Amino acid sequence: MDLKSQINTERLPRHIAIIMDGNGRWAKQHGKHRVFGHKNGVQAVRECTESAAELGVEYLTLYAFSTENWNRPALEVNALMALLVDTLGKEVNTLMKNDIRLQAIGDLEKLPKRTYKALLDGIEKTKDNKRMTLVLALNYSGKWEILKAAKKLAVKAKEGILVPDQIDETIFSNELSTVGIPDPELLIRTSGETRLSNFLLWQLAYSEFYFTEEFWPDFKKESLYTAILDYQKRERRFGKTSEQIS
Ligand code: FPP
Repeated sequence: MDLKSQINTERLPRHIAIIMDGNGRWAKQHGKHRVFGHKNGVQAVRECTESAAELGVEYLTLYAFSTENWNRPALEVNALMALLVDTLGKEVNTLMKNDIRLQAIGDLEKLPKRTYKALLDGIEKTKDNKRMTLVLALNYSGKWEILKAAKKLAVKAKEGILVPDQIDETIFSNELSTVGIPDPELLIRTSGETRLSNFLLWQLAYSEFYFTEEFWPDFKKESLYTAILDYQKRERRFGKTSEQIS
């Protein structure tokens, strides 16, 4: 039986988050520059987005650029930003055809103007699409987001809009950039690394983690199916005992 038909569509993760890693090593393996790896990573983004939408996943969040990534050589950063502009421009029609809404999280205003504009255009054009939401994490960091939420709540408390004692998980979550998006049930990281790298620190509190040795450009539809099947074998207990949830 093929992998796709083994997936129980009644028990799909509503939200999958992915740390796309290994583009550089994939390029090295092929004797090419790192930028060649990123270009081939775009094909994996396409495959993964398409297969997630086909299955009925509601949200797919991709870690495309972290705040720490600015420390890479300027040539690579510029190439990544240009690749984003190019890909967004080319793929907006595909998103429209597939009824996929684009959203973004991160410190977006600090992106280069052209990237920021391409992103806002894509978000605006696809805003009424319903089948799946594709969230790009760009210039994103989990700690940055948590600090920003804490500052906003501190201001609200100072202005008397709320009292500190009122702050609970819901009020806190409402200040995060993922407001309105359910927490990911499944996190995938490629390339054999097993770190969180400052990704969705709050939102991944109860997520299942799946790590694969595959480099991101090699991540195909079957790779996503394998990750989902692995997730479906697990029992999610949220701190309870097996007996309590059966
Ligand atoms: C990690 O590999 C990859 C990135 C930091 C960038 C991901 C970007 C893309 C796949 C292209 C554009 C994305 C979209 C959404 C259109 P790495 O460079 O850290 O690889 P390494 O660990 O082997 O060096």
